[in-house]
Amino acid sequence: METKTIHFTLVIGSEEFRIQTSRSQYHSLMTLISDRFNLADFGLCSSMGSCGSCDVEIDGEMVLACETAVNDSLANTRIVVSKSVIAIY
Ligand code: FES
Repeated sequence: METKTIHFTLVIGSEEFRIQTSRSQYHSLMTLISDRFNLADFGLCSSMGSCGSCDVEIDGEMVLACETAVNDSLANTRIVVSKSVIAIY
């Protein structure tokens, strides 16, 4: 099992979070975000790639978080949750 640690910055609204994870811990970036943060209206189609509610910006490029693997390509990136999602604490 791969256990290499990956670090990146996740921006939600005006808050920045330093994320630490491993490649094998999550199926996709969407599952990581959904698991760690309670965001209203994020990931509505459960990774089917059809709703667009999991849009994120990775170093300036828009992608769907549900189609983004958690791997070395995310290391040291800045990921912005681009929807006006509402964090529920
Ligand atoms: S969860 Fe619907 S497009 Fe990603």
